[in-house]
Amino acid sequence: MTASTHHTLAAEDLTLAYDRDPIVRDLSVQVPTGKITCIVGANACGKSTLLRGLARLMKPSTGTVLLDGESIQTMSTRTVATRLGILPQGPIAPDGITVADLVAQGRSPHQQWLRRWSATDEQVIVDAMRATGTLELADRAVDQLSGGQRQRVWIAMTLAQGTDLMLLDEPTTFLDIAHQVEVLDLMVDLNRDQDRTVVMVLHDLNQAALYSDHLVAMRDGRIVASGAPAEVITEELVHEVFGLTCRVVLDEVTGSPHVFPMGRHHRRP
Ligand SMILES: Nc1ncnc2c1ncn2[C@@H]1O[C@H](COP(=O)(O)OP(=O)(O)O)[C@@H](O)[C@H]1O
Ligand SMILES: [Mg+2]
Repeated sequence: MTASTHHTLAAEDLTLAYDRDPIVRDLSVQVPTGKITCIVGANACGKSTLLRGLARLMKPSTGTVLLDGESIQTMSTRTVATRLGILPQGPIAPDGITVADLVAQGRSPHQQWLRRWSATDEQVIVDAMRATGTLELADRAVDQLSGGQRQRVWIAMTLAQGTDLMLLDEPTTFLDIAHQVEVLDLMVDLNRDQDRTVVMVLHDLNQAALYSDHLVAMRDGRIVASGAPAEVITEELVHEVFGLTCRVVLDEVTGSPHVFPMGRHHRRP
């Protein structure tokens, strides 16, 4: 499971819409290469839409997504799929497919005509399953797994794609807290050991702060703040983005900002 040379990803003045309504508006972002970026924001602010646009699952209304400095719209599906892997939110597996077969689908962009499976493909698939703890589920049907098991299988498939750029939309959904941390730790391993560039949408602000080098906060389809977590996560920002009153405390062990929500019953008089 080695990632190749560094690929770069950016958006310039990107607007994404379903029908007419613009969801992501005139947004520009440069994904820091070789780093972990987390995207946070309230429900329906456009995080998934942005991720899909960056992965060319949606065509821009205006603006451009640049993969290695070139418009992603002009590239072949295969070129995009060998450089960039995405785990969308709520993916759907083909009926009755087994875990091993679904993970193996991650390798399809790498296969040549007349030369289907290589030993490398096999090894990458096994490595991806081992890393996500899904090896023992290999022969099970994906639709008979628990939500958490299924989520790990999808992550394995994304890993098996072996791309230098990995985009994951809420990869910790359905996972219990220990498995959440395991997945996030795995992303750090992939980033550090294999120099992969990771972009994740995360629900949990504290996990986003702890696991990202670069944090992007969105509101109404726009970026309202970005930078190092300790600079981005402030009480004002959390209020602006989520409309939530909170305390932000710098954790002395991790050095990371920690958000304590202050519900109506917990505020000081
Ligand atoms: N396939 C779709 N068709 C029409 N509207 C959509 C579709 N997907 C998402 N939207 C709308 O786009 C907005 C942003 O959605 P999304 O990007 O999924 O938000 P987030 O991931 O931040 O929760 C929401 O108002 C949602 O209803
Ligand atoms: Mg979403």
